[in-house]
Amino acid sequence: MSLDTQGPGALDIRVITGQDVEDALDDLARLRIAVFHDFPYYYDGDFAYERRYMESYRDNDRAVLVGAFDGRRIVGAATGMPLEDNEPQYVQAFTEAGYDPDTVFYCAESVLMPDYRGRGVGHAFFDHREDHARRLGRRWSTFCSVMRPDDHPGRPEDYVPLDGFWEKRGYARMDGLTTFYHWKDRGDDAETIKEMQVWMKDLSAS
Ligand SMILES: CC(C)(COP(=O)(O)OP(=O)(O)OC[C@H]1O[C@@H](n2cnc3c(N)ncnc32)[C@H](O)[C@@H]1OP(=O)(O)O)[C@@H](O)C(=O)NCCC(=O)NCCS
Repeated sequence: MSLDTQGPGALDIRVITGQDVEDALDDLARLRIAVFHDFPYYYDGDFAYERRYMESYRDNDRAVLVGAFDGRRIVGAATGMPLEDNEPQYVQAFTEAGYDPDTVFYCAESVLMPDYRGRGVGHAFFDHREDHARRLGRRWSTFCSVMRPDDHPGRPEDYVPLDGFWEKRGYARMDGLTTFYHWKDRGDDAETIKEMQVWMKDLSAS
């Protein structure tokens, strides 16, 4: 699929750094909260936490932050950083599975407002991050997806998982390789642990 940047709401997809990240921090925090509100993330977001989280991309010169802009408005973003810069429990899962963390680049999230989906932005987000990973000399690109039961009460009837997209991008589900994050689901009083499925792509093969 090629990137459709034509017509009303034409999009500009670019890596942002420095002051541009600083200027976008509030919007990025709001964007994550809005997109992850939906199933399968079902996230009851906290603005202060989200803003702090996004600052880690401003403060890490090996990280990458890709923005999708409709004019001056940021409507989507994707992030990534070297695996070893992540939380220890995430890095440990890879080490235990036999991967050297120094060889792995972690694609953290892709979030795009629903009105802008289906135009190739998801592909562009991966292209930018995989290019960045290659420039850092990483062999592997990885991300994780939340594992939800099929009968989760928040699952829309017409929900289609993104697995087909990820496989088409060259990512393989790593059976048995999972990790954990925690966040507060909508309707809950406290955070709960979420099991996350790891996906990997060998960047040296493409
Ligand atoms: C992931 C996301 C950024 C993809 O954005 P997008 O711009 O719509 O993706 P693209 O237009 O590049 O489409 C990529 C491919 O996936 C397919 N696809 C996109 N959304 C899909 C869905 N919900 N179900 C099935 N296939 C889907 C598209 O048809 C396209 O296939 P093609 O290459 O054969 O044409 C967007 O769906 C999103 O923000 N989702 C919610 C957050 C999320 O789940 N993020 C991923 C984990 S952090």
